[in-house]
Amino acid sequence: MPSVPSSKETTVNSPVCPHAGKLHGFSNGENLKTEEESQEAARNIQIKTKNSSPERKWIRPDLPSRCTWSLEASKSDSPHTQVSRTVAPAILPNILNKIGDTPMVRINNIPKAFGLKCEILAKCEFFNAGGSVKDRISLRMVEDAERAGILKPGDTIIEPTSGNTGIGLALAAAVKGYRCIIVMPEKMSMEKVDVLRALGAEIVRTPTSARFDSPESHVGVAWRLKNEIPNSHILDQYRNPSNPLAHYDTTAEEILEQCEGTSILSCKIYRNFFNGIIAFSLKLTLEVHWKSSQQGSVFLLTGKVDMLVAGAGTGGTITGIARKLKERCPNIKIIGVDPEGSILAEPEELNKTDKTQYEVEGIGYDFIPTVLDRSVVDTWYKSNDEESFNMSRLLIREEGLLCGGSSGTAMAAAVHAAKELKEGQRCVVILPDSIRNYMSKFLSDKWMVQKGFLREEDLMVKKPWWWNLKLQCLNMSAPLTVLPTVSCQKTIQILKHNGFDQAPVVDDTGLILGMVTLGNMLSSILAGKINLSDPVSKVLYKQFKQITLTDNLGKLSSILEIDHFALVVHEQIQYLTDGSHSKKQMVFGVVTAVDLLNFVTARKRQERSMSESTDELN
Ligand SMILES: Cc1ncc(COP(=O)(O)O)c(C=O)c1O
Repeated sequence: MPSVPSSKETTVNSPVCPHAGKLHGFSNGENLKTEEESQEAARNIQIKTKNSSPERKWIRPDLPSRCTWSLEASKSDSPHTQVSRTVAPAILPNILNKIGDTPMVRINNIPKAFGLKCEILAKCEFFNAGGSVKDRISLRMVEDAERAGILKPGDTIIEPTSGNTGIGLALAAAVKGYRCIIVMPEKMSMEKVDVLRALGAEIVRTPTSARFDSPESHVGVAWRLKNEIPNSHILDQYRNPSNPLAHYDTTAEEILEQCEGTSILSCKIYRNFFNGIIAFSLKLTLEVHWKSSQQGSVFLLTGKVDMLVAGAGTGGTITGIARKLKERCPNIKIIGVDPEGSILAEPEELNKTDKTQYEVEGIGYDFIPTVLDRSVVDTWYKSNDEESFNMSRLLIREEGLLCGGSSGTAMAAAVHAAKELKEGQRCVVILPDSIRNYMSKFLSDKWMVQKGFLREEDLMVKKPWWWNLKLQCLNMSAPLTVLPTVSCQKTIQILKHNGFDQAPVVDDTGLILGMVTLGNMLSSILAGKINLSDPVSKVLYKQFKQITLTDNLGKLSSILEIDHFALVVHEQIQYLTDGSHSKKQMVFGVVTAVDLLNFVTARKRQERSMSESTDELN
């Protein structure tokens, strides 16, 4: 079973092999149970857990792989089913047939701008039906589980994911009629949540900061749900061999085919008719390998690819593609990309950083997924958010490719790595998903400025006269603050009396604890979460934006386009009697759109009346 841990699987020494053993068992062959047996076992373990020790029932996503693949190993020894590619009919039976066969597009302007001599080609995975590279593995995992008799009509699919696998699974579930529950860290965009919801998936969000092996992580929560919901399955992209196999069988074959410009299908047909003669002519032009296997002679297409660049999340994409390309193009160089703050890269020193979080979605982890074969990666490149998002914006503006953030990550690595390639050589870059997932994120100039990935000066748009004036110009009244012990009822009276919608909550020393807003109090009271007599500390709002007096009004206006107010803070250094010191943030005021508008319109009025009086004098 893919998702039910056998007693052996709960121990670290019995890893699930992504490529060896029973493909559809996803567990050690000898431990394979029927779904009913496994569920009974799961229920028993759960009851035991409830009444005795709080032992967790889950399979780690980072068990060492027992895969038997090696560059030298014979194909006939493979334990896996090969899924061959077929030509799509004119009318597709359903949208799942629009997964795979994505376009390869030449990148024209960016290589010139970076002084590259080689050719850069982008494999545009956002043309898959669900919008990402993950559609391939989602469909393959579902169909392999169906073929193995694990997934049956009416069952529930649960998956911990950064979103795109969720969308792929939800798409397959919508078409095939399964219930789908997606467990996703909070960091992932609202756009992904909305698409998932539209596809009928149920969504559970988990804290981004939770370690992968904690019960609160997306992996931990998915397992808890799996243990509670009958007939549910975690297809487990971190361990499932169908993940890298989807890329080994399709993405990599497409790359080879696209880099030759001739389809494998036509080679096979020719061979049947004219065997040796065509083999000879193909050899001249296409570098076709002519290999002998037990079944007879077969054509193996070797593409004209010198380098492949791909980001790694589960590692399924890079592992599957790299294995096939290394078999067919022995001199190819595989470049893996991993964000700073993740630990997938090798050597280990590359991963040393103070960063714990990054904004690019879909790549990097705090564990090494079972399906990631790092031995096929020749060089790792560590990426950062700023270069990733700016490169994605460049791909959109210069090449018209409406791609997502991790596409920029891969391309940013490619323009560095491909410097070593000569004229006539070729580098393929995987662009995993589309801008659809990030409309409210890196597509927005404001978001880029707020996150520090773009400087206002770099924006092309002409800024209004007040843009670079400092916040000090505003006429801010003394701040009204409340202590955390003040009741909600009293706070509402104070706010109404002073005509404010919100106030900072500070402790006795003036330290900011959070904000209290009329809106937040009202919704909490109406939802029955708090009483009027409760202290405001119960409704503290912490998602507010802070700004300092030396920031400019442009930054303030960007904040106010999204938020109702910004808290003006002032940093103080406080020395203690023992000579030690600490930094404290104190409230200086609260600014709203009305304050900014008053300032701008008052200045304009003043200018107008000044020019009128000079006119009169003339
Ligand atoms: C946007 C994006 N980029 C890259 C990847 C990496 O793919 P893989 O998990 O196969 O390593 C993912 C995976 O979720 C993704 O969503």
